[in-house]
This record gives sequence, structure tokens and C-alpha cells, in this order.
Amino acid sequence: MKKEIFVTQPVLPDLEEFTELLKDIWERKWLTNNGKYHQDFEKALADYLGVPYISLFSNGTLALISALQVLNITGEVITTPYSFVATTHALWWNNIKPVFVDIEPDFCNLDPQKIEAAITPKTTAILPVHVYGNPCDMDKIQEIADRYGLKVIYDAAHAFGVKQNGQSILNFGDLSILSFHATKVFNTIEGGAIVCHDEKTKQRIDYLKNFGFAGETEVVAPGINAKMNEIQAAYGLLQLKTIDKNIEARKLIDNSYREKLGNIRGIHFLSENKSLDYNYAYFPVFINEEEFGISRDEVYTELNEQGIHGRRYFYPLISQFPTYRGLDSASSEKLFVAEKMAKEVLCLPIYPELDLEVINTIAELLKKLERNLNGNIVSK
Ligand SMILES: Cc1ncc(COP(=O)(O)O)c(C=O)c1O
Repeated sequence: MKKEIFVTQPVLPDLEEFTELLKDIWERKWLTNNGKYHQDFEKALADYLGVPYISLFSNGTLALISALQVLNITGEVITTPYSFVATTHALWWNNIKPVFVDIEPDFCNLDPQKIEAAITPKTTAILPVHVYGNPCDMDKIQEIADRYGLKVIYDAAHAFGVKQNGQSILNFGDLSILSFHATKVFNTIEGGAIVCHDEKTKQRIDYLKNFGFAGETEVVAPGINAKMNEIQAAYGLLQLKTIDKNIEARKLIDNSYREKLGNIRGIHFLSENKSLDYNYAYFPVFINEEEFGISRDEVYTELNEQGIHGRRYFYPLISQFPTYRGLDSASSEKLFVAEKMAKEVLCLPIYPELDLEVINTIAELLKKLERNLNGNIVSK
């Protein structure tokens, strides 16, 4: 049977090492609520990422919903339509109106040039996403936020470990959130975190993720249950041992894609940002139908038939889902770049154990499809 290749495949920790930690947890019988492994993992993670304070969460979505609560964000928030739907859902769950602003074409991140026009007296914050792990234009976004007195919360779900000029991009804005979902560069099966800059904010975050408890009998806020458990924290600690090696393996795959697909007309990549320590979270290609000859959806289907399952991240745009499409800011004319990118994008498989042969197969297939356009007979 042909092996099916998916867009990603999770890395798991060494089973024997994990079993040892499980035995310890079984003995301790402390399963959640800020246990030993939770504390150790939080500390190790802050060190690894180069951030002052981090709070673990049970997933990235609850981290995002809680981050908005921590800063008391209300009214309207400017955000991107080109993301995973959880970014906007987090606003909706807080009764906040999302205001979509278009993206720029170089990295598919929120376009700072278009933010100001979307600000109203009700705007309280900006919620950009470091899509595919590439940093937003954080200086420009901060400058606008400062001028209008807005908060900035980065959805950094894709940006684990990314540094710009040697500095973690998680240290920008008021808060950043991470996701450690199984599909991410770094996973704790499910999981997430909020990064903040001061102890007081961390304290507040920690209250909020534990029902608002500030002591045995004291509840200081209407918090939620978003705690990470001991088993996930122990798993996460082990994952830190191999993360550098795994990012290195991803880099080789990224390089190989660039080399093998680089000369195919109509197939475009995102620019390479030389100032980055990048995490190679995704490998999106953009298929220009006019130049390539067939549409992204046809390429997607052809690859699927070969057992290679790319994903159209991020199509459809969040602004096109029924909950959001009635908003003024969701109209197509205003989101021209995002619509184009969503129509052309296809994320190709990338994960540390990916067989490099798969890249050759994809390259061959794309070349055949391209020749097909020129009228030659294709044997599939
Ligand atoms: C950009 C973005 N934001 C938020 C999330 C939500 O994270 P989680 O799945 O951990 O809830 C994800 C991924 O799942 C994501 O890709």
C-alpha cells in the first residue's frame, strides 16, 4: 500500500524517557494544578525561548481567549483574515467585534499601512498573527498602537523559537500566545502559553487560567479552567531536548523545496528573511494559475491522488465563514491581497522525518503538470 504523506507529522519524545517520567508522576499522584513538572517545564521553556515570563495553557485557543481577558479588551479589535479560525473566534468568545484588515504580499502578515484607516473610537487593540512563523512588522504596529493608545496581542501560534536579530519575537507587543498543538513545530499533544513582560501580569494570567483563584478561598476574577496537566508538562520537558535538531531537519527540507521547485514557472515562495532564526513551521507555495497553467485546487487534487496531502492554509479566509462574512470589514474589495493569497496557497508537507524523496516526487509532478499546459502528452 502506498504511504500517505500528510502536511505534518508530530515528533514524539523518547518513549522510555517518557515512561520514566510517567512512573514518577504515578508515584507523586499530583496530576495537575501547578505540579512539579508544570513548574519545571515553565521555567525551562522561558529559558529556551528567551522570554521573562510564560504561563502554560491547555491549548492555544484558551490562551488567546484569556489574553484578551487579561488586558480587559472590549469593543473592536483589528485583526487579519488570513489565519486559522481560532484567532477571530477568540474575539467572538469575548464579545469583541473583529475588524479585518488586509495583509501584505511578502509574508502574508497584517499590512501596517492599512491599519490606521480601520481604527475607530471603539478600537482597543490589534491582534496580528505571525503567519507561518514569519514576524509581523512589529515596530510599525507598535508605533501605531502607541499613537492611538491600543494594546497589541500577537497570535504567535506558529512562531515557536523564532528570533529576529537574535531577539525572541515573543517579547514584542503586550502579550504573545503560543500553541503546542500536535501539528505545531513544538507539541505537547494539546497545549499553549501566554508570554508576558512582568510578574504582576503573569500572576493575573495564572489566576485567570485557574477559575480566578488567588488562594484557597479567594476568587478575584471570573476565570476559566485552562491549566496544562502534569503529563503534558513532562512530555513538553522532553520535547525541549530535541527541538533544535528538529528545526535543523526542517531547514534542510525547506532548502530542498526551494532548490527543487525554484525554477518552476508560476510557483512562488515567501521571501527568505535573512535576519531570522526561523523555525520552518510551514512550506507554503503560491500557484499562479495564469503562469502555471492550472489552478491551485487542481494541483491540490493531483497531489492528493498521489497520496501527498498538502493543506490550503489559509483558505477560505476567516472573513468568509458565515459568522463573520456579514461584517463590513469582511468585504472582498478591502481584502484584495488576502483573497489572492488564499486562492493560490498550498502548504506542502514539512516535518523532521519527511523522506526527501517526497520532495522529488512533488517536483516531478509539478513539472509534468506545467508541461501539460504547453500541450505535451503527460503520462501520470
Ligand atoms: C494561528 C493560530 N492561532 C491559534 C491556534 C489555536 O491553537 P490551539 O489549536 O492550540 O487551540 C492555531 C492552531 O491550532 C493557529 O494556527
